[in-house]
Amino acid sequence: MPAPNEAKPDKGPARERQVRTIFSEIAPRYDLLNHLLSLNIDRRWRRLAVDQLHWEGKPRGWYLDACAGTFDLSLELTRRNGFEGRVMASDFARPMLLEGMAKVKDAPVFPVCGDTLELPFPDESFEGAMVAFGVRNLSDLGKGFGEFLRVLKPGRKLVVLEFTEPPNPVLRRFYLFYFRNILPVLGRIVSGHPWAYTYLPQSVKEFPGPDGLEQMLRAAGFSETSWRFLSGGVAALHVGTR
Ligand SMILES: C[S@@+](CC[C@H](N)C(=O)[O-])C[C@H]1O[C@@H](n2cnc3c(N)ncnc32)[C@H](O)[C@@H]1O
Repeated sequence: MPAPNEAKPDKGPARERQVRTIFSEIAPRYDLLNHLLSLNIDRRWRRLAVDQLHWEGKPRGWYLDACAGTFDLSLELTRRNGFEGRVMASDFARPMLLEGMAKVKDAPVFPVCGDTLELPFPDESFEGAMVAFGVRNLSDLGKGFGEFLRVLKPGRKLVVLEFTEPPNPVLRRFYLFYFRNILPVLGRIVSGHPWAYTYLPQSVKEFPGPDGLEQMLRAAGFSETSWRFLSGGVAALHVGTR
């Protein structure tokens, strides 16, 4: 059984350590579990996220993939026809980056070990920024959004892909059953990690809903914000403009 104090998201710096530990420990099985547990829908979600980045206006620029993990979102961008730019892919769990290195060896993806709460890049560095399934883990979401704002060039987009809970009561019941009962067991068996996949539903439960997230984007200084549910509300896609 998972130790409840470990499965439950911590606060502040303790949460940073907790999250880094989880992803460092599950890194070897992350890709397999990601596609298995999301029934492969995550690939479609990443495609929709990159569609919102408006990279076509600056196809040769630098783009940021924060909380990049094993680079699936970075690769979704660099594989687009007409994209001639580069992706800076940052994550603070080195084992995740190492696990993904083979996938990006021929791609214009540049891995950087760094904290999204203190992005190691100068102001106004990027033509666009994106983050998939990362912001839910941040101990200070406002600070994280502030960092995205700082490193983006004016007028450019931030795209945020994140889990949420479906609004439809029937779908919600099914989803919560899967999330609370099936996913942690499958995750435990395949990853061998005793509590990492119990942390996942807990962290979604404690995360603000899509309206709250949009308000936080606006409070951080983003304009032209919008969001939409994906797959009936299992995930949500937010966009903001610096
Ligand atoms: C669920 S994975 C998502 C990985 C990837 N974006 C994807 O779509 O598969 C979350 C990633 O966020 C990273 N992460 C969480 N908090 C972070 C932080 N404060 N700074 C940098 N990376 C962070 C974790 O190390 C992990 O690799």
